[in-house]
Amino acid sequence: MTLTQAAIREAGQVLDLTWKDGRKARFDAIWLRDNALDSATRAPGNGQRLITVLDIPDDIRVDSASVSPSGDLNLIFAPEGKSVGYPAAWLAERIYDRPRAAAGGWTDPAIERWDAGLQARIPRAELGEITVDRAALGHWLAAVRRFGFAVLSGVPTTSGAVCDVASAFAYVRETNYGRWFDVRAEVNPTNLAYTNLGLQAHTDNPYRDPVPTLQLLACLENSVEGGDSIVVDGFKAAERLQAAAPVHFDLLTRHCARFEYAGSKGVRLQARRPFIELAPDGELIAVRFNNRSAAPFVDVPQPLMRDFYAAYRHLARLIEDPALAVTFKLAPGELFIVDNTRVLHARKSFASSGSRWLQGCYADKDGLLSTLAVIEAERGGVAS
Ligand code: FE2
Repeated sequence: MTLTQAAIREAGQVLDLTWKDGRKARFDAIWLRDNALDSATRAPGNGQRLITVLDIPDDIRVDSASVSPSGDLNLIFAPEGKSVGYPAAWLAERIYDRPRAAAGGWTDPAIERWDAGLQARIPRAELGEITVDRAALGHWLAAVRRFGFAVLSGVPTTSGAVCDVASAFAYVRETNYGRWFDVRAEVNPTNLAYTNLGLQAHTDNPYRDPVPTLQLLACLENSVEGGDSIVVDGFKAAERLQAAAPVHFDLLTRHCARFEYAGSKGVRLQARRPFIELAPDGELIAVRFNNRSAAPFVDVPQPLMRDFYAAYRHLARLIEDPALAVTFKLAPGELFIVDNTRVLHARKSFASSGSRWLQGCYADKDGLLSTLAVIEAERGGVAS
């Protein structure tokens, strides 16, 4: 991964680079100066930037550019007269001069959308294995990144063990439900989850801002008839909605829904977010869907409300389509993890005889992805 050519363009404001493998990319002088790797720009110990964007001169430009004998880049910036070196591979990994998706709704290549076909290849691991083997942990975390869902077995059926699992790769998010919460049928429940009713596929806590981005649900007891768990890839449902009715997709991305939970004393959580959330550049970043906590929608103009409901119902039908559903029954000692910004979970109703005791906790994806990135850096490659 070496450079062969560096050519100054536009009076030093732009640099054209060519790599030995034929790749070409354009970089801007201000970007290169802002991202200089020298010890006066980046603290050697923690890698944090020591300058602000305003420390860069208004008239920053590349005065001189050359390729070193090792194929890396050397620049001298004017008017500072500052020399900075950049490894060719470092630059190649950060090329931003590339085509962009024209339409909204795209996802990162690390994400694989799935339907019921995932049933035959549910990502699974053993707690004992991922505890002692970093590669196995990386493999399981990479499955969560790719599919937004994975199962883990060999989990102790002791109260709170679900938090120990989450703490192994992320940080438990404590909420009004506690550090962890019990999911079993109760008298006078504060949440319909704590009954034996079936639950439509949903993401958890859409009334929270920010929403918990991971949920873990562990099974301690399960001797009831029914109570099967179902997961659905919300990104796949969004893709199908976009393909079948782009107008419906647009309505659900461009207008906010409202979500609320006030089911227990002292709690009144409210959030205003779309069912399908896109980043400013069109990346599909989140799906929120929860019939129990959807509040009255008041952010949709009246002339569009009926169309908005048609789009909402369309998405709901896709989410309930068995062609998208992966079904399994958790046994004691098993847990599943979902990316709560993407994968919906549901539960079939269950009989009132026998016992079903699940414990759940929330955590966040940034911690999981950080652990995964560390493992990948240790192992020198992307886990899959
Ligand atoms: Fe839930």
